[in-house]
Amino acid sequence: MADATILDYEFEAHANPVSAADRAEILANPGFGKRFTDHMVMIKYHVDRGWHDARVMPRGPLSIDPACAVLHYAQEIFEGLKAYRLPDGGAALFRPEANAARFRESAERLAMAPLPEEAFLSSIRKLVEVDRDWIPEGEGGSLYLRPFMFASEVFLGVKPASEYTYIVLASPAGAYFKGGAPSVTLWVSEHYTRAAPGGTGAAKCGGNYAASLVAQAEAIREGCDQVVFLDAVENRNVEELGGMNVFFAFEDGSLITPPLGGTILPGITRDSLLTLAKDVGIDVREEQYSLEQWRADAESGKLREAFACGTAAVVTPIGRVRGRGFEFQIGNGGPGMLTERLREQLTAIQRGTAPDPHGWVERLF
Ligand code: PLP
Ligand code: COI
Repeated sequence: MADATILDYEFEAHANPVSAADRAEILANPGFGKRFTDHMVMIKYHVDRGWHDARVMPRGPLSIDPACAVLHYAQEIFEGLKAYRLPDGGAALFRPEANAARFRESAERLAMAPLPEEAFLSSIRKLVEVDRDWIPEGEGGSLYLRPFMFASEVFLGVKPASEYTYIVLASPAGAYFKGGAPSVTLWVSEHYTRAAPGGTGAAKCGGNYAASLVAQAEAIREGCDQVVFLDAVENRNVEELGGMNVFFAFEDGSLITPPLGGTILPGITRDSLLTLAKDVGIDVREEQYSLEQWRADAESGKLREAFACGTAAVVTPIGRVRGRGFEFQIGNGGPGMLTERLREQLTAIQRGTAPDPHGWVERLF
């Protein structure tokens, strides 16, 4: 069986890469998730051969059999991480080992072949190296990396597949929310939950996002930016947003974020902010927080700030919360001081402009 920790990558350069002038235009205003670099990584798995055929190749369409298992039973997982431009023109990844570990855990939950973490890491490093000219410069810009894996066995029986395809895409990115949103408005989903105990909520699988879309569409229809989900058992405690974790900041300077417990994604940004907050002596607790309490605390002024956090969203202030028959504002509806301070601290470490006491930053070149 091939040993994925020492996979050799074949390299096929793109015959017609995007010109330097066109690339510069894309990088000046990349948006999120719409533009892609010239190359991608692909690695195959077969139960009898292990991981094999690792390659860096021109990005392009896939040809898959219509009976490919993922198209029927959604055995698919993904990750999201970013490469940042450093002040000296080099580039760095932020905690890629954490993404590699979460990818393995997601694979295990979805009964997929776990990609060795060293192979995950080498695939990311390779692609950033090859498409190094695609990392935007300047504040807010980064190269968003999207590793994903799907069941590629051609078989309609319901069982864990015996073949998988792993791919990494790279996409230059600016702000996730349109206009760089100074603060966002959330819609509280009344009818839909994201994940139930025993389900796949802690895994980063495409199915979780498919299940969230009707609620997210409702949020947009109601003029909000993101949906916020409550727990599936009592429909009471705040869990997370469609694609971000959430924090609450109080007048006494303390912070709360909902605890991990199988129904929310263990965000790497969430974990990093917990650490940074503890570093500076903030009383930060992983604790259940109900919608009812959220509303009461916002109205009494006890709650000063709330923010969403994730790789794509970074740290985004939550200004208002709306649901069927109610609406409340948080603080002055705009960015709060603690939110700004944590965002600054995190992004300064990621971009190499502040010391990195926890060894989170991996310099690539
Ligand atoms: N929760 C959900 C549902 C997400 O999709 C994401 C984004 O990846 C997060 C939370 C935040 O995770 P991370 O900080 O690792 O990007
Ligand atoms: C991320 O932040 O990486 C996400 O996955 C959120 C969303 C774009 C799915």
